[in-house]
Amino acid sequence: MDVTEEEFDVEVDAEDLPDAPQAPAALGTPSVIVDNLHVTYRVVGTRGKPKTVRRGNKLQRGVRRVLRGTGAATEVKAVRGVSFVARHGESIGIIGTNGSGKSTLLQALAGLIPPSEGSVYISGTPSLLGVSAVLMKKLSGARNIMIGGLALGLTKQQVEERFDEIVEFADIGDFVHLPMTTYSAGMAARLRFAISTAAVPDVLMIDEALATGDAGFRERSRVRVEEIRQGAGTVFVVSHSLASIQAMCERVIWIDKGVVRMDGPADEVAAEYRTYVRALRAERARIRAARKRNVA
Ligand SMILES: Nc1ncnc2c1ncn2[C@@H]1O[C@H](COP(=O)(O)OP(=O)(O)O)[C@@H](O)[C@H]1O
Ligand SMILES: [Mg+2]
Repeated sequence: MDVTEEEFDVEVDAEDLPDAPQAPAALGTPSVIVDNLHVTYRVVGTRGKPKTVRRGNKLQRGVRRVLRGTGAATEVKAVRGVSFVARHGESIGIIGTNGSGKSTLLQALAGLIPPSEGSVYISGTPSLLGVSAVLMKKLSGARNIMIGGLALGLTKQQVEERFDEIVEFADIGDFVHLPMTTYSAGMAARLRFAISTAAVPDVLMIDEALATGDAGFRERSRVRVEEIRQGAGTVFVVSHSLASIQAMCERVIWIDKGVVRMDGPADEVAAEYRTYVRALRAERARIRAARKRNVA
């Protein structure tokens, strides 16, 4: 399906948003501008994926076979021409099936991956950038809180003042004094979230972190996101849970195979996405059933 460019509504009006009491007084000026963003991974030596390309003559196919496994580079076009404008005070959910490019998009927004084409403009500092780049597994949670806090621009004293609150938010108890190698994935994700929101960031990006928490953590996260939004920050949330997204975001961008398939009010996009996923599942079930019949 094509990118629905016409439906591309960057002029989201706060008054048109569903949950009026939740919406900030007014959406601010643009905080993030993504202009025709492309991200291409170059994968070197894809030995494990012998997906034979059937085109070309015998010689060409032979050359390809030789190149494979000898470190020849393959390209994965993970993001292919994404454009949107996000504003201060906006929280935006990003949804899409696995491999659609959500994480890549966030990493490009955070400046962790360079665009292969197009550009990203951000006013202020993206939060996940500092923290995810510096968290060190061999060090204790406590050391990471200090390092992460400093990376976010807090002073040593400010980090010390917020220390207990961060530990409480992450709900890691005495583990804070142990190396992060001893943490479960959920504990690490919660600590990362707690650190990255310790300083009210201009732009916060959350990638699947919410899936790892219990109901209490999810609620604390929701409140924190709301605070950031009210403080004119911009929040991006990637989650498999449409319910979490709808609870936190007034706007949702649906990414499919690296392109924006829909961008609009959370409820509308979520509804379309649900229909799409249901159809996709039914189609897969139909194919499986057909295969079984052929085997039998
Ligand atoms: N480091 C990487 N190197 C090569 N390909 C990658 C890398 N990370 C992701 N990809 C590929 O890019 C595409 C988008 O992946 P990703 O952004 O992780 O999607 P999502 O977060 O929506 O599941 C997928 O085809 C994935 O296999
Ligand atoms: Mg992902």
